[in-house]
Amino acid sequence: MQVSPAWCAAHPELAADCLALDDAAVAALRADPAALQAFVGARLPALEALAPLLGMAEGMAVGMAPCGGSAYAASAIAPRALAGIPGRKQQQIAHFAAQLAPGPEPLLDWCAGKAHLGRTLARLQQRPLHAVERDAALCAAGERLAARAGVGAQYQCRDVLREPVQAPPKALVLALHACGDLHRRLIDGPVMDAAQGLLLAPCCYHLWLDGPYRPLSALARQHDLALSRNAVQLAVQETVHAPERELRRQQELAAWRLGFDTLQRELRGVDTYLPTPSLPQRVLQQGFPAVCQQLAARKQLALPAAVDWEHYRRAGAQRLQRARRLSLVRQAFRRAIELWLVQDLRLRLEERGYTTTLQTFCAREVTPRNLLISARRR
Ligand SMILES: C[S@@+](CC[C@H](N)C(=O)[O-])C[C@H]1O[C@@H](n2cnc3c(N)ncnc32)[C@H](O)[C@@H]1O
Repeated sequence: MQVSPAWCAAHPELAADCLALDDAAVAALRADPAALQAFVGARLPALEALAPLLGMAEGMAVGMAPCGGSAYAASAIAPRALAGIPGRKQQQIAHFAAQLAPGPEPLLDWCAGKAHLGRTLARLQQRPLHAVERDAALCAAGERLAARAGVGAQYQCRDVLREPVQAPPKALVLALHACGDLHRRLIDGPVMDAAQGLLLAPCCYHLWLDGPYRPLSALARQHDLALSRNAVQLAVQETVHAPERELRRQQELAAWRLGFDTLQRELRGVDTYLPTPSLPQRVLQQGFPAVCQQLAARKQLALPAAVDWEHYRRAGAQRLQRARRLSLVRQAFRRAIELWLVQDLRLRLEERGYTTTLQTFCAREVTPRNLLISARRR
C-alpha cells in the first residue's frame, strides 16, 4: 500500500480536506455513497461531472423498502414460500421477483446454487424451471428442494465456462449475483442466441479477469477506459453488512499489517510495500509482536533482537487512519465504475437484439449489488 496515493500530488487541497476529517465524519461518508460523492465532487470537477449519471442510477430505484415489506407484496410471494432460504437471500428474491412479469416462457436459473430464486419464481408463476450450476452438491440439494416444492426442475450440473449449456427455447434467463466471467459468458455466449429475455444482477466483476477489463460492446471498446483488475474490483469494495465489532477487528488487523509494513521498510531499507499473505482475524489474540514475527518469517526477514513494538503498532494505526481518509476518493468512484461496467453489458445485449433497461431492484442494505439489467428480445 502506498503511503500517499499518486493523486495527492495533483490535488493537495482534496488530500488535506480528507485528512482533516474526524473519525465520525469518515464513518458517515463511508456509509452514505451520495454524501461521499457530494463531498469529493465538490472538490473534484471530474467526479462532479458524473453526478447526473450517478443520481440517475439511484433515481431508477424501485421496490426500495429496505426490509422487504413492499417487495413481498409487489411480488405476491407468500412469506412461507421463502421458508428455508437464508434471510437476506429471501429479501433479494422477493425484490427480484417483483421485476418478473408473468408469462409462459420457461425459466433458466444461471449459476443457480440451490436455485432458490428459480424455484420460488417457477412456483409463483407456474413456469417450467431449468437450472445450471457447477457444484454437484448444490445441484442435488436444489433438485430435492424443487421436488419438495412441487416444481418440475431440470438441473444441468455444468461448468458454464467450459461446457455447453442446453437452454430451453425462448427461455427467460435469471442470473442473481453471477460473478465476473459467469455473467460475461452468459451475455456474450450462445445461451442468449435462443433466449427470450434476461434478468441479471451482476456481481464481483473482477473475477476471472487476468488483465485489464476488455469491454464486450463496440461502443465501450471505442471509449475503453482500460480499467485494471484493481479498478474493476473497486466496484464491489464496500462493506454494508458487517457488524460494528467485526469492523473494529478488521481495522485492528489492517493497522497491524501497516505497522509491520512500516517495520519491514526500515529493515530492508527499501521504501516499498511488500505483499504479505492474508491473515485470519483470530491472529489478533496472539498480539502484535507475534503477528509481525510470523509475517517476517514468511518473508524470510530477520528481526533485530529488540524491537520497539509499541512504536510500530502506533505507526500502523496512524497509517490506517490516513489511508481510510485518503481512500474516500477511490470509494467515491465506486458506483461510477460499476455503472460503466454494467452499461457495457447492457450495450452488448442491445447489439445482440435485445431491448434493455437498467434499474436498482432493492436498497443497498439488502445487497449493495442491486443493479438489475432487464432484457427482452426485440
Ligand atoms: C454468488 S453464487 C450465486 C448463486 C445464486 N444465483 C444465488 O443468488 O443464490 C454463484 C454460484 O455460481 C456457481 N458457479 C461458480 N462457477 C461456476 C461455473 N464455472 N459454472 C457454473 N456455476 C458456477 C457457484 O457454485 C455458486 O453457486
